[in-house]
Amino acid sequence: MGRKDTVSTPLADRADDETLDLDPEQIKQLGYLASDCIGEYFARLPQLPVFPQTTGDELKNLLSEPLPVDGQAPQEILRQFEQLVIPGCRQNAHSRFWGYVSSPGAIIGAIADLISSALNQNVTSWRSAPAAAQIERLVIDWIKQMVDYPSDAGGLLVSGGSLANLSALMAASRAKAKSDIGAGGLRGSPSQMMIYASKEVHFSIEKAADILGFGRDSVRYISVDAQFKMDVAELAGQIEKDIEQGLAPFCVVGNAGAVNTGAMDPLDDLAEVCRKYDLWFHVDASYGGFAALAPSAKPLFAALDRADSLALDPHKWLYIPIDAGCILYKNTEQARRAFSHSAEYIRVLQESPVESFAFFDHGIELTRRFRALKIWMALKHYGARRLGKCIEADIRMARYLAARVEQSDDFELLAPVELSIVCFRYAPAGLRQKIAASANDRSEQDQINEQLNDLNTAILNRLLRGGKAYISNTTVRGKFALRACIINYRTRQSDIDILLDEVARIGAELAPQ
Ligand SMILES: Cc1ncc(COP(=O)(O)O)c(C=O)c1O
Repeated sequence: MGRKDTVSTPLADRADDETLDLDPEQIKQLGYLASDCIGEYFARLPQLPVFPQTTGDELKNLLSEPLPVDGQAPQEILRQFEQLVIPGCRQNAHSRFWGYVSSPGAIIGAIADLISSALNQNVTSWRSAPAAAQIERLVIDWIKQMVDYPSDAGGLLVSGGSLANLSALMAASRAKAKSDIGAGGLRGSPSQMMIYASKEVHFSIEKAADILGFGRDSVRYISVDAQFKMDVAELAGQIEKDIEQGLAPFCVVGNAGAVNTGAMDPLDDLAEVCRKYDLWFHVDASYGGFAALAPSAKPLFAALDRADSLALDPHKWLYIPIDAGCILYKNTEQARRAFSHSAEYIRVLQESPVESFAFFDHGIELTRRFRALKIWMALKHYGARRLGKCIEADIRMARYLAARVEQSDDFELLAPVELSIVCFRYAPAGLRQKIAASANDRSEQDQINEQLNDLNTAILNRLLRGGKAYISNTTVRGKFALRACIINYRTRQSDIDILLDEVARIGAELAPQ
């Protein structure tokens, strides 16, 4: 008997419960359910507390359940989502949400995300996702145009500003190192490589220095002036000093919208310093960059094109849903040299420059989602002009908030408002008079400031628990600051009035009599 004759039972075909497939009608029904859920959410949103009225324990109990072994109907899952998950969320799309650096996200982008997940493109390279790769390259071109970055620059989308900063420092270090640190690691580097940034720089720079092996101590923090902009003379002096001591400066990071106050570093001057000492100039424009679309802010970004690399976050001030970050490199070849690795299973066989393009040659990730679709759709739907108008209105709202703070006897503005971040504190007239009266008594002043720090911490806690508005906090020259970052196209002046009324009301309740 031949071997074939020994197979007696035929292999069974796939049964209905061995596939996850749905027919097109079922898919449409599921989509209608999802869009109903989203529509209902936005109808309820204005009434929802901005921060959920719950506790960690309560949510843990509500959302704990055993591993689902058998499935249930989508209607039932969406019902649970509406009842349990939505009320437990911080409502980032609310008109009075101004925490951290977080936009409401444009709905067209959310729809794009749904479609992009349905197609499940893996945008490693052109050959893995031809149209998606082309759309990403087009979106990168549009982003360059929006911030006036050179047309022959390259770049790619990443998860956010932190990854963009990490990618930039990677490219910078490989371009400026005196040895091949890609092959030999930092132990092959003759001297410690140093990075320079203002004290206001985002912590992702220090984190990147740590991840890349330079160490946190390789970041030199340069002082800022009264406007929270980097002191260029101190920067140049520190670089000179470090060179004399045998260290190896390689990169300066400028802020185009620093995270605490929104300050813009003097980018042109920083570019000059970089030119003089042959350093890589990276600009972190994760928060501020797209304000270049707003006519009143555009001049602030005039020197962006001098940066060797630029971190931008469409998921911040371009209102694209999370996640959507972007790194631009002026010289694409330098990025390719830093990131290009190969393996047999990903070897690209195409020969045309377009078809052989691989994003993994220019960044950290291999598998990548089709992030570009949401930016493509949002830009096509709204156009850059409309987005710029929304940004301009955010800046106007921030100025309105700052003006109301300055006009009030109850508040004090703690930093200039350059873009759309407002740092202020509740400081009733009585306490401010005491500070003024103790101008020559530092310890008395410190004591009152401590009192104000405690008071404003308590105000913020109570404000967030109340759910009427959401702002976050920072420290400005030792003072606890209430910090509103307005990158929210839903915000109107009446929302800002509600915030200030609420802070004043809570402040009056909590202030020592
Ligand atoms: C100036 C700046 N850089 C970098 C980041 C990090 O961005 P992401 O949270 O997208 O990683 C932020 C976040 O707020 C930021 O404001």
